[in-house]
Amino acid sequence: MNQEMKIPQHIAIIMDGNGRWAKQRGKDRSEGHFAGMMALRATVKAAAEIGVKYLTVYAFSTENWGRPQAELDALMELVCTGVEMNTPELCQEGVRVEIIGDRSRFSQKVNDALDRITGKTAQGERMTLALALNYSSRSEITHAMQQLAQKVANGELQPQDIDEQAISQSLYTASMPDPDLIIRTSGECRLSNFMMWQASYSEFYFTDVLWPDFGAEALEEAIKAYNERDRRYGLVK
Ligand code: FPP
Repeated sequence: MNQEMKIPQHIAIIMDGNGRWAKQRGKDRSEGHFAGMMALRATVKAAAEIGVKYLTVYAFSTENWGRPQAELDALMELVCTGVEMNTPELCQEGVRVEIIGDRSRFSQKVNDALDRITGKTAQGERMTLALALNYSSRSEITHAMQQLAQKVANGELQPQDIDEQAISQSLYTASMPDPDLIIRTSGECRLSNFMMWQASYSEFYFTDVLWPDFGAEALEEAIKAYNERDRRYGLVK
C-alpha cells in the first residue's frame, strides 16, 4: 500500500453475500458462512498489517434470529469453530477481540467460546477487532437510554447532563472512536440497523464483491476510495 495513503483509524464492515456466494456454487448456505469466516480471517490480518486500529464487523444482527433453525445452528457452531481456529493467530498478531451486542440470548457454549477469545486476546495492542453479535443499532441505543434513565432515577445524573458524549459513552462502542469508513459488500446499499449513531460522519463504500471473496485486495480498494473523499464534517474548507 502507498505510504502516502491516509489509513482509516476505524473501519466497520457489513459482511454480506455469504448466502448468494454459496448459491452460485450450488453449496449450502452454511458453507457460504464458513467461507465468510475465512474471508474475515484474511481481512483482519490485512487490516492489522495496514495499520487500522479498530475493525468492527457485523457478524449477527438481532434480526438474524428469524433465519431457519438449521442456519442459526450452523452460525452458532461457526462462532465456536471460529474461536478455536483463530484465537492463536489473533494472539500472535496482537489483535484484541471485543464483543458488541447483547450476549444474553446466546447459549452457554457460545458465551464460553466468546469469553475464551476475549480473555486470551485481551493483551493485544496492535488492533481491536469488535465482533457485532446479536447487535442492532436501535437495540444498542434503547439499552443506552435505559442505562441513562436509571442513573437519573438514582439521582446520579441530571437530565440536562445527558449530552452527546454521555450517550456515546453508554453505547457498546464506548471505548472506540466512530468509524471513519463503513464498507458493505454484495451490492446492497443500506445500513441495516448498524452503527446508526456512530455513522454520523462515516464515509460509505459499497462494493459488489460478495463477502467470501473479500480480502486484502478488496480492502485496499476500499481504502483507496476513502482517500479520494473530502471529509468536511459540515464545515467549509
Ligand atoms: C450475511 O450474508 C452474513 C451473515 C448473516 C453472517 C456473517 C458471518 C460470517 C461472515 C461468518 C464469520 C463470523 C463469525 C464471527 C461467526 P447473508 O447470509 O445475508 O448472504 P445473502 O444476503 O447472500 O443471503
